[in-house]
Amino acid sequence: MATKKIIETPRSLSLIIAIIVSLITGLGFLFITSISQSQQLLTLFAFTLFVFTVTYLCSLILVNLFVSKRIKPLYKALYSVDKASADLVDELDQNNLLQRLEYDLRVWAESKTDEIDRLKQMERYRKEFLGNVSHELKTPIFNIQGYVLTLLDGGLEDPSINRRYLERTEKSINRLIGIVEDLELITKLEAGELQLNMERFNIISLIDETFEALEQRAKQKNINLKFDKEYSKAIWVYADKKRISQVLYNLTINSIFYGKENGTTTVSVTDIGTRVQVEVNDNGIGIDQKDLPRIFERFYRVDKSRSREQGGTGLGLAIVKHIIEGHKQVIGVRSNLNQGTTFSFTLDKPGK
Ligand SMILES: Nc1ncnc2c1ncn2[C@@H]1O[C@H](COP(=O)(O)OP(=O)(O)OP(=O)(O)O)[C@@H](O)[C@H]1O
Ligand SMILES: [Mg+2]
Repeated sequence: MATKKIIETPRSLSLIIAIIVSLITGLGFLFITSISQSQQLLTLFAFTLFVFTVTYLCSLILVNLFVSKRIKPLYKALYSVDKASADLVDELDQNNLLQRLEYDLRVWAESKTDEIDRLKQMERYRKEFLGNVSHELKTPIFNIQGYVLTLLDGGLEDPSINRRYLERTEKSINRLIGIVEDLELITKLEAGELQLNMERFNIISLIDETFEALEQRAKQKNINLKFDKEYSKAIWVYADKKRISQVLYNLTINSIFYGKENGTTTVSVTDIGTRVQVEVNDNGIGIDQKDLPRIFERFYRVDKSRSREQGGTGLGLAIVKHIIEGHKQVIGVRSNLNQGTTFSFTLDKPGK
């Protein structure tokens, strides 16, 4: 152990070799020429110093050559993918090769540990994602199977149920399509593959279109969809219209799903300087403070049975968040249980 500690660098190894060689030759010199005068003592000292220097330099060069010859392939393997670093190896300072290698190996090991952690995390995500996907797909598939079996077992000839069961089958198929489309979109968004088609458009008109598209659904619960005030002038924003339409749709349909009968959904648009802020507010069931931080996670639902009853998968808000963040904008939520919820997000104004 102690020797290992002393011989840590090519320099210390060369120093030891030089000391041993100069001692041996010095003693040999003494033995051959029996010294008596001080003149000869000086010669002995000069001779030993000379041997020491030459041996030290020669062994330093030889040890460095030996070490670097073995280390360079290692280095090149370490940086095999990085051509620039591999070229750098040729220019490495021979004297510091060992320390440099030790340092670089540590950095390399740390980066590999981080990479392994990241891969493990991705693997966990993948498993969880697959588990959730198959779970979500099962419900509509089993429903369809049930309707078809009933129809095949004589229901087809029974006019009281055949149409009803076919309509239910169609509803489940639409649900399946919806889930698959959402999954496709979230996969693209998470992989950062979605291209935004940025354009200038009037956000007030887009909100109006969303209200129209959801009018029937709102009516079923007697929910009033309205603006906070009258917007007589257009408010222009710069964003991907199709995606923002999806954001408005998801937030508004949530306000209906999780709104109370005879409730109200109010949308407001506020100028906040270089941006506009859109708020979708409802006076529905609200979200508990403990659930709020997780609300944007994919597949997260506060009340699973209630959400599923509404045909919810728990992907809507995850998609919304990705779209808004993809625009480099922010989205937030505030809510009080049994009182209501407000989602707000920002958008750039054109010509920024
Ligand atoms: N306006 C709201 N009021 C109360 N709870 C809400 C509201 N919006 C969302 N939530 C809660 O957040 C959960 C996640 O919403 P999200 O839109 O992501 O999924 P979902 O509505 O269940 O399904 P889908 O994928 O069809 O949108 C919901 O299940 C619901 O519990
Ligand atoms: Mg939803």
